[in-house]
Amino acid sequence: MAKEPGFQLTRSAAERYERTAAPIMAPFVSALLAASRVRTGSAVLVVACGTGFAARAATERVGPMGRVVGLDVNPTMLEVAAVHGAGNAIEWVEGSAEALPFPRETFDAVVLQQGPQFVTDVRQGPQFVTDLQQAVHEAARVVRADGCVAATVWLPVARSPYFDACRRALQSIAGEGALAPLHRQFGCDPEQVRRAFRSAGLHDIEVDDIVVDISLPDAVDFIPAQLSAVPWGAALSDVVPDARDRAARAILMELVDLIDADGTLTAPFAAALVSGNP
Ligand SMILES: C[S@@+](CC[C@H](N)C(=O)[O-])C[C@H]1O[C@@H](n2cnc3c(N)ncnc32)[C@H](O)[C@@H]1O
Repeated sequence: MAKEPGFQLTRSAAERYERTAAPIMAPFVSALLAASRVRTGSAVLVVACGTGFAARAATERVGPMGRVVGLDVNPTMLEVAAVHGAGNAIEWVEGSAEALPFPRETFDAVVLQQGPQFVTDVRQGPQFVTDLQQAVHEAARVVRADGCVAATVWLPVARSPYFDACRRALQSIAGEGALAPLHRQFGCDPEQVRRAFRSAGLHDIEVDDIVVDISLPDAVDFIPAQLSAVPWGAALSDVVPDARDRAARAILMELVDLIDADGTLTAPFAAALVSGNP
């Protein structure tokens, strides 16, 4: 099977990803930057930066004396990142996590926010470890001796009721075969990330669960928009006509008890944060 980077979106889907993923990612981005000791004047590399949430948050922490670079393999994600990051001094670089175009010891912090599961292809079995390992090895190469490498990955899908409702809707409407892209999003065991950190020579490795309640305003609009902005939702419309609308209705019904009178959906989301020092 050909090796392809994961989580590739079109321009319009990338715009929707920016809008719908922002509220879900924000608390994890804060925890990731805090754990990697990003502060005034730091030089930070955000690997697999997508539309740039973590890079934008990093600029607030590093201030004008710092440096923030966002790297992603997908130029479409970077285009959207550049639009939303306009006004921030962020360098956007098209490149691969497995071959970072920087000299060794360039950054104080190298972070992968929901990145490890996409720099590899879980369908390829043993290659999973190879690609993740290579990405972490590269992160460890470009971080300074007193710096930090950190990553977040989702905990199993059952720990995040919103995503679990998405999983059940996909399965009932389109069958088990439609779940492959979603499995990929949730297919990276934090222990594999820990092992990759250890093999890359990182020390003081910590793995912490982060579980936060996140409020998503206007669930009736949010759910179909979010479904159209992730690979597992985008693929759904190829399977069955109206599948995405049906899935959105099923998710809404399943989560109705978590929706306030004003339409805001509040649910726990769970990710693991892995950090280590050179
Ligand atoms: C789920 S998005 C996460 C984006 C962002 N970090 C966030 O938190 O929203 C995964 C990103 O990984 C990128 N990606 C996948 N494989 C990659 C690779 N080998 N090197 C660099 N980026 C990669 C995709 O293009 C996509 O933007």
